[in-house]
Amino acid sequence: MEASILNTFYSPAQLARWREAISGRYSCRAYAAGPDAGQLTALNYAAQRVCLPGTRIVIAPCPEGLFLRIPLVEPIRGTGTYACVIADMEQTLPHTLAGISGEAFVLEAAAMRVNTCWVSGTYRRGAVNVKVKENERVVAVTPLGIAAGDPPQGRKRKKLAQLCTSAPENWPQWAYRAAEAVRQAPSAVNLQPWSLSYGQKTLRLLGKKADSLDMGIAMLHMAAAVGDRRYHWEWGREKCVAHLIAEENS
Ligand SMILES: Cc1cc2nc3c(=O)[nH]c(=O)nc-3n(C[C@H](O)[C@H](O)[C@H](O)COP(=O)(O)O)c2cc1C
Repeated sequence: MEASILNTFYSPAQLARWREAISGRYSCRAYAAGPDAGQLTALNYAAQRVCLPGTRIVIAPCPEGLFLRIPLVEPIRGTGTYACVIADMEQTLPHTLAGISGEAFVLEAAAMRVNTCWVSGTYRRGAVNVKVKENERVVAVTPLGIAAGDPPQGRKRKKLAQLCTSAPENWPQWAYRAAEAVRQAPSAVNLQPWSLSYGQKTLRLLGKKADSLDMGIAMLHMAAAVGDRRYHWEWGREKCVAHLIAEENS
C-alpha cells in the first residue's frame, strides 16, 4: 500500500484546531456580511498553508449570479467574498486531495468564526472569475462570511451504525471517535456516501467512488479526530479509499 501524504503534511496543532471546529461547522447560505479585513488576511494565509500539493484555494470577490437558485434550498446570499477550490487534474485522486485541502480550509474558517458552504453543483461555472491553468479545474466554491442567523439545531445524519460495517461501540475509542467525526462531515446532497470498517488496528474508509470531494472531506475529519495519537495512513484500492492504522496501547 502506498503511504499517504496525510501522514506528515498537517501539524498536531492544526489537527487539534480542526477537531474543535467540527461540531460548530455547518453549511451557511444566508450571510450578514463578508469576512472583515483581519479575517480576510487570516483566510488568505490559511489558504496558502492547508493545500496539499496539487490543490489550490483562491479567495476572490464574488461575481454577480455565481450561485444558482434551486427550489427548496435556501439561496446563498449576503456576502461578496468566496473561495475556489482548485485541483490539478494530472494528480492521482485529484478530487480526494481537493476534498482534504478544502475541508481543512473550511474548518480553519470555522475556527475563526467565518462561515462557509461547500458548493460543487449549484454554481455557474462561467461566472467564476479566478484563472486556472490548463491542467487545473475549479472543483468547488464556497461563500465566505458571517452568518445572518443562528446555527441550525442538530444535523440530518445517518445513524453511526448505518455507516459502520460492524458495531462501532465495540471498536476502540479512537476508531469510534474517528467514525463519529466522519458522520458529522458535510457531503454533496448530504448523501454521506461513506462506510467504515474496523479490524486489526485499522480503520478503513470505504466508498463507491474513491476519487471524490466527499472522500477527502471524510479523511480530513478522521485525521482531525485521531489527533496526535501515533497513526499511519495508507491509500487503499478499489472500494477501500484509505486505511488509518493507529498505535493501540489500551
Ligand atoms: C462536496 C460538497 C458539495 C456540495 N455542493 C452543494 C451545492 O452544490 N449546493 C448546495 O446548496 N450545497 C452543497 N453542499 C452542501 C451540502 O448540502 C451540506 O453539506 C449537507 O446538506 C450537510 O449539511 P451541513 O453541511 O450543514 O452539515 C455540498 C457539500 C459538499 C461536501
